[in-house]
Amino acid sequence: MKFGHFDDKEYEYVITNYNTPLPWINYFGQDGFFSLMSNTCGGYMFYKDAKLRRITRFRYNNVPRDFGGRYYYINDNGTIWNPGFLPLKTKLDSYKCRHGLGYTIFESEKNNLKAELLCFVPLKDLCEINQLTLTNNSKETKNITLHGVIEWCLWNAVDDQTNFQRNWNIGEVEIDDNTVYHKTEYRERRDHYAFYHTNLKHDGFDSDLDTFIGLYNSWADPSAVMNKTSYNSKASGWSPIASHMFNLTIKPGESKTVIFQTGYVENKEDEKFESMHVINKKKAYELQEKYNTKEQVLKAFTELKTKWVNLLSTLHVESDNVKFDRMVNIWNQYQCMVTFNMSRSASYYESGTGRGMGFRDSCQDLLGFLHLIPEKTRERIKDIASIQFEDGSTYHQYQPLTKRGNADIGGGFNDDPLWLIAAVSQYIKETGDYTILNDPTPFNNKEGSEKPLIDHLRASMNYIITHKGPHGLPLIGRADWNDCLNLNCFSKTPGESFQTASNFESGKAESVFIAGMFVLYGKEFATILKNIGLAGEATNILKEVKSVEDATIKYGWDGEWFVRAYDAFEHKVGSKECEDGQIFVEPQGFCTMAKIGESLGYGKKALDSVEKLLTNDYGVEILHPCYKEYHIELGEVSSYPMGYKENGSVFCHNNPWIVIANTVVGNNERAFDVYKRNCPAYLEEVSEIHKTEPFVYSQTIAGRDAKNYGEAKNSWLTGTASWTMYAASQAILGIKPDYDGLMIDPHLPKEIKNAYVTRVFRGVKYEITIINNATGKYQMTVEGKNIKGKTIPYNKADNNVNVVVML
Ligand code: BGC
Ligand code: NOJ
Repeated sequence: MKFGHFDDKEYEYVITNYNTPLPWINYFGQDGFFSLMSNTCGGYMFYKDAKLRRITRFRYNNVPRDFGGRYYYINDNGTIWNPGFLPLKTKLDSYKCRHGLGYTIFESEKNNLKAELLCFVPLKDLCEINQLTLTNNSKETKNITLHGVIEWCLWNAVDDQTNFQRNWNIGEVEIDDNTVYHKTEYRERRDHYAFYHTNLKHDGFDSDLDTFIGLYNSWADPSAVMNKTSYNSKASGWSPIASHMFNLTIKPGESKTVIFQTGYVENKEDEKFESMHVINKKKAYELQEKYNTKEQVLKAFTELKTKWVNLLSTLHVESDNVKFDRMVNIWNQYQCMVTFNMSRSASYYESGTGRGMGFRDSCQDLLGFLHLIPEKTRERIKDIASIQFEDGSTYHQYQPLTKRGNADIGGGFNDDPLWLIAAVSQYIKETGDYTILNDPTPFNNKEGSEKPLIDHLRASMNYIITHKGPHGLPLIGRADWNDCLNLNCFSKTPGESFQTASNFESGKAESVFIAGMFVLYGKEFATILKNIGLAGEATNILKEVKSVEDATIKYGWDGEWFVRAYDAFEHKVGSKECEDGQIFVEPQGFCTMAKIGESLGYGKKALDSVEKLLTNDYGVEILHPCYKEYHIELGEVSSYPMGYKENGSVFCHNNPWIVIANTVVGNNERAFDVYKRNCPAYLEEVSEIHKTEPFVYSQTIAGRDAKNYGEAKNSWLTGTASWTMYAASQAILGIKPDYDGLMIDPHLPKEIKNAYVTRVFRGVKYEITIINNATGKYQMTVEGKNIKGKTIPYNKADNNVNVVVML
């Protein structure tokens, strides 16, 4: 069953039934001011850091699930409703929620009154705009009362949810004509405040939650709204909010527009106040002035839309497969931008109060984003590398506001260091710019410890080289990519975090997955070294690679697939010798991509096993059979009920590895088959089973052993976005940035007969026509000339380059 439809022309998903199986959300913002917006107008706003600098409040674990937002209440002659359906839940005569790229538009109608609510964060400013236009489509004049309201968060989202003994005393606001300013803690250590402003003279306001709602009422029947009034309340402690009320007379056929703006302002220490306790509003006024008319809003909105059209023109495909094109051209790229911005911090599943930016996550998120804004990735790489330690190990996460490594989580995830090589090598391939290797980058953010970035890559390699186990395979540490394979944890204490507990240090548990990574990215590092004239160092690295490759062939092969790991007692994990968890997907993907045992046919065999044992209707499951019991020596992986999360769901992140691996061994049909199985656009028709948004990837889809087989969870913030983008563009379409130029090596399935791709690469626009199933033999012509090999030689002076590839 569908709950809406794609509008590819507008780059939108249009939800037409507000009873979606879960909240379907969208994101606004690019650099500092970010918002989440659900299809019922729920969500929240924050500045840079969803934990430390939360602007509006969200109510977790609430009923209904999606609560906290910016709500507009329309009282039309006693019929009270919201354009986004919640909180009142008044049945609407018509409803549309258009989630677009960086904006959402609600179009709803009730009793011949139409509401159009346009919401977005402008490109250049730290604010969210909500422009509400009410149109009277009836034959009589309507007298409407309109309330707009948001609830402030007292900045630190965790403290806000817990520390009531302090927080119910500290809330402070200031109010002027059409603006409520939230200035809690501004008198003391904060240099920032927020405001909720409207462009039209209001007829009343409120800034105290209990007054606005009434202590025994709820958001579904706020006293002010029900009584068509405002109490002009001034918050002092408790829960500050901001609400503006308007009495509007709208004639038949007439429209009235009100613009609401939530803004964020920072002031320098000596410019904080205008007078004793009165905040300096100069910057706020400037911001308010910029969005006070419909024309200004339209201009900013058009700029946002144009930015996306331009960004997406970097990579565009037109093939004979609408769903593939829609994902590659619009939604997959958009999701990559969002994961780049958020890492795993703020979604409806990641509360924004826990994780900041992950080292491994952010490195991988770059892979699908790099072509869009390479300069931003360079900055990000520096931030990430700066939380690494001199021995190559690293903090696992950092907070975006402070950019300091997060000591609560610590480190010890032994795959982490290698992801930095994945990110940097891809950066160089995309940009051709090796100077990034010289960027002075500190270790653990210590001043004076700066070394050229290449030394960080050396440290990464070295960490693995110096941390190997009894079989000559890399030690796993706390866990590798699979956070739940905790082979040194041995946790017995309820509630103890598997990621931070340290009850055992075997110095023995090894990861075949890290071995695959080491071989793949070790070779990559050696290529970089050669390219910058360090052939000797490259040879040494390749020797190390060879030794891990040999160890993997010897101890990491189980006969039909790659072993997953060795536990602290040197027992195999992910082997036919095991009772459960006989095969894991991760090493099948990575070791095949790294071509370990290629001449022995390992990759092909491993992928046959993946198809036979792990593939279900919705993709490839992470392991099989699921663990039935808790295994103290394996950790969190065996803690999940069967079929969920790391215990046997389709953990979508590693499915594109299988797509890519299949193209590496030439299984093009199977690669596309895996691609399609969990591609959201292909699951739109079964939204009632899949449940999450049909336009973005989710982290997991419950596996065959789960009660809710096929149900997805944790949409939006998943490495699936980036890796699938990589798989679709670089493996299936085969448009691969490489050190010396753009390589075109398509692995299209038979069902895609032609693809016409435009790709802007290092400033040159390539127009590539791929004709599939033509001759069965690869032939490329560039500007009409036959070319040997698969790489178009890069020439900076080129403008538009026409390429034809026959397959
Ligand atoms: C989840 C993982 C996650 C980890 C770290 C675990 O409970 O299963 O997917 O990466 O927590 O937060
Ligand atoms: C989610 C985490 O963000 C990611 O880093 C990890 O690799 C997967 N879970 C698998 O455990």
